[in-house]
Amino acid sequence: MKEYRGKCPHGEDVYLCTLSNKNKMTVAITNYGGTITSISVPDRHGVIEDIVLGFDTVKEYYGMHPYFGALVGRHANRISGATFTLDGKIYRLAANDKGVNHLHGGLNGFDRKTWTVERHDEHLLQLSCHSLDGEEGYPGNLEVTVSYELTEDNRLSLLYRAITDAATPVNLTNHSYFNLNAGRDTVLLHEIVINADAYTAIDESLIPTGQLIPVRNTAMDFSVLKAIGKDLSSVKGGYDHNYALNSRDREIRFAAEVVEPLSGRCMKVYTTMPGLQFYTGNFLDGSITGKKGTVYQKHAGFCLETQYFPDSPNRPEFPSSLLLPGEEYSHTTVYCFSVKP
Ligand code: GLA
Repeated sequence: MKEYRGKCPHGEDVYLCTLSNKNKMTVAITNYGGTITSISVPDRHGVIEDIVLGFDTVKEYYGMHPYFGALVGRHANRISGATFTLDGKIYRLAANDKGVNHLHGGLNGFDRKTWTVERHDEHLLQLSCHSLDGEEGYPGNLEVTVSYELTEDNRLSLLYRAITDAATPVNLTNHSYFNLNAGRDTVLLHEIVINADAYTAIDESLIPTGQLIPVRNTAMDFSVLKAIGKDLSSVKGGYDHNYALNSRDREIRFAAEVVEPLSGRCMKVYTTMPGLQFYTGNFLDGSITGKKGTVYQKHAGFCLETQYFPDSPNRPEFPSSLLLPGEEYSHTTVYCFSVKP
C-alpha cells in the first residue's frame, strides 16, 4: 500500500508505504527521511502491536525529534571536532552535537531528505537519493539506494548501497527506537544479549578514545541475556556505546537478541557491519509526545544502530568507513521477529 501524505516543507511529495506478510506483520516507511514509522508484530498470543517509537502522522517527523525510525547518513554517529582530513584536505562539517562534534550527518542529514520511491510492492520498498558533492560538507556526489524487505517469516531486511565519484566517508544506519512491549513501560525489563567481547571507550562527549575495552564482568557485559536495567545505573548517562561485534569480517552474522518477557516478543539482529551502537534513549525526557499521546520518558525505547565505529574518519585504527570511486558501499542488517512461549 502506498498512500500520498502531501508535500514536505521543501515541496516534495511524501508517501507512506506499507509492507505486509501473511502473518499480518506490517512495516510502514515514509520516503521522508526513509523513516520507519511503524513495525507491527504479534506477541505470544498473536496480538499485533506497533513496537517502535514515533508519531501518528508523517508531518510530525518534519519537526525536530531524536531520529525516530530515521535512515541516518551520510555518516551516522559522531565525528570529533566536526572535521576530518582526506588526502591532505580538511573537511568541515556541521557541529550539530553540543556545538563541537558532528552527529548523524549534520543539520540536513539523510533523515531530512525526501527519497525517491524506486520500487514498491507488498514485500519490498526501494528508495534512492542523490547526495551532492559538498552537501553537509562531505566530498563527492553519492548515489544511495536503500531496500526494505519483509519476508513471510517475519524478517525485515535493510540493504544499503552507495557509490561515489570522489573519496568520502559513508556510514548508514537506521535509528529505530524499539519497545517490544508496545511502549507500555520503559525498556529496562527487556533482556538483551550482544555478540561483542569489547566496546569502544569514549570520553565525556561520547567520542571514542581509540581504546577497545573488554566487557567481561562489567556493566557493559551482555554476552549472556541480561535485563537492560540490571546494571544501567552504574553506566554514566545510560548505555550509548558502540560494541565492537565479534568476527568483524564482512559476512552477515548475529549481532544481538532482545527478549521482552511480558509480551514474549523477541528480536534478533544480524548485520554485515563491524559496530553496534546500543543506545537506551537516555536523552528522552518526557518532552516529546508521540504515538497515541504517549509521552516518551527516559529509556522508553532502545536503539541498535548497526554501523562503522563512531569517529571512524579520524581513527585509522578502526575499520574504515571510506568509500572510493569504483567501489560500492554495501551493508545488510536483518531484524528477525519471533515470540518466546
Ligand atoms: C545516537 C547517539 C545518541 C543520541 C541519539 C539521538 O544514537 O549515539 O547519543 O545523540 O543518537 O538523540
